[in-house]
Amino acid sequence: MRSLILTGVAICNVLVACAQQSTDPLHPFDYTIEKDITVQHGAVVSAHPLASRAGALILQQGGNAVDAAIATQLALAVVYPGAGNIGGGGFLVAHLKNGRNIAIDYRESAPAKASRDMYLDSAGNAITRLSLDGHLAAGIPGTVAGLFASMKYARLPFSKLIDPAIRLAEKGFVITEQEAKGLNASREDFLRLNTVKTAFVKEQPWKAGDTLIQPQLAKTLKLIRSKGAAGFYEGETARSIVAEMQRGKGIITLADLKNYKAKERQALTFPYKGYTILTMPLPSSGGICLQQMMGMIAKYPIAQWGFQSPQAMQLMIEVERRAYADRAQYLGDPDFVKVPAAQLTNPKYLASRMQQYVPMKAGNSDSTRAGAIKESEETTHLSVIDAEGNAVAVTTTLNGHFGSRTVAGEAGFLLNNEMDDFSVKPGVPNMYGLVGTEANAIAPGKRMLSSMTPTIVLQQQQPLFSLGTPGGSTIITSVFQTLMNVLEFGLSPAEAVNRPKFHHQWLPDVVYVEPGFPESNITELEKMGYKIVKRGPIGRTELIKRTPATRVLEAAGDTRGDDSAAGY
Ligand code: GLY
Repeated sequence: MRSLILTGVAICNVLVACAQQSTDPLHPFDYTIEKDITVQHGAVVSAHPLASRAGALILQQGGNAVDAAIATQLALAVVYPGAGNIGGGGFLVAHLKNGRNIAIDYRESAPAKASRDMYLDSAGNAITRLSLDGHLAAGIPGTVAGLFASMKYARLPFSKLIDPAIRLAEKGFVITEQEAKGLNASREDFLRLNTVKTAFVKEQPWKAGDTLIQPQLAKTLKLIRSKGAAGFYEGETARSIVAEMQRGKGIITLADLKNYKAKERQALTFPYKGYTILTMPLPSSGGICLQQMMGMIAKYPIAQWGFQSPQAMQLMIEVERRAYADRAQYLGDPDFVKVPAAQLTNPKYLASRMQQYVPMKAGNSDSTRAGAIKESEETTHLSVIDAEGNAVAVTTTLNGHFGSRTVAGEAGFLLNNEMDDFSVKPGVPNMYGLVGTEANAIAPGKRMLSSMTPTIVLQQQQPLFSLGTPGGSTIITSVFQTLMNVLEFGLSPAEAVNRPKFHHQWLPDVVYVEPGFPESNITELEKMGYKIVKRGPIGRTELIKRTPATRVLEAAGDTRGDDSAAGY
């Protein structure tokens, strides 16, 4: 077990617990980061130890995996303001012990006053900062509607699930080094993009061990506790959001909020070598792209080639290239555009996509049709498996780090900047040199295309893995690689999550590698003709494995962040 303990200002990174722990599992000033745990009954893994503990506590109090996922998300909205949220949106995928598969879409949608060219200047040029910063960048938040849509499958009363979050917002909690750095890095944006004083700015720079207290957020959470979804989409909270919009030239109205609905979708399932992969359908591109990549790779003896062997890496890069090219061209909100999903995932089509594949030689993206992805990387994932065999995977997002960096006035929570996940100007390169297409153009009420890929692997209809990650356009390839790591290369959960990853997204035609990616692998790829770009860490993957025979659970939190597992 790998742990990191936070007690007041003291932080120590050690192999075993190095300080006396409080008996209160939700003690906000004394908590431990647990990277890799093995438990018998139920496990939760998320981006923050207090959020994972909130979920595990709910499991111990008789809640099921859905209850725990709801409590964990609410706690993340408090203790992980960079991406945890009630002002953003997400997707939940679940396999219930009765065999039912669930997919709940609570992606943000474009306000009624949104229009295709709303981020263009009079000369037709994209003003990309408008879709990233402040009020106009926000889509209609979906998270609270998603939590109440999930309640259909929960067991405990909502008031019990939200109580840990209220307590953490009201009394505060001690922040980590990473959180302090994140808040300090966004300080100027918080000051520039808000019309009210926010809890995220204080006189002196934040440091590890400081306490973050969010009384306005606590008040909003209490309104949600007493009034349900109406405590967010109507009344005082809705009025705060709209008043903030009016102070900052935003366009979300009371009617937009009242009309927002989470949607239950048919979960996407597909077979892979005896396993069933259960994942998110559109408006996430994650499920379709994962199905394409795994479909293209299935006939090759990749396990035999070995983990990060030159053959395996090259094949994975080439299937990533093809899936992302299709993503850019064809994928968008299926309630607004016709997406040829069946054709894109048809085995014959996938086989035809590999006709140009030359082993050990880099392909190229020149001849592929235009289109691309444009996403920020600040999202968050949580996984839960309970003692009864229910499994949940939830990925949720504000889009950028702290979203639009704009707080919804007196309501005290950050609004997303998810409008930037639309193609601001279809067919024209964006600020990252990528282009988008008509399928993902802005329209009122439309959901912007996502890459979030909450995924569950079933073996003989029993959950074997629950996993997912943040990381914008790298989400799909990180989930894909993690699946290959466990299903093909036999890596342990912790290794599968933490071994260095690589990423190809069709355009730009480069292979991104993260810190720690072996130089020898880089040399091998360069010999084949790939251009390598070194970048920062890729994703923060959370994974739980349940061994069917023993029902033992192994939960791994990513070492790239403060991610932490909890269970009993
Ligand atoms: N904002 C990241 C995503 O939805 O994919």
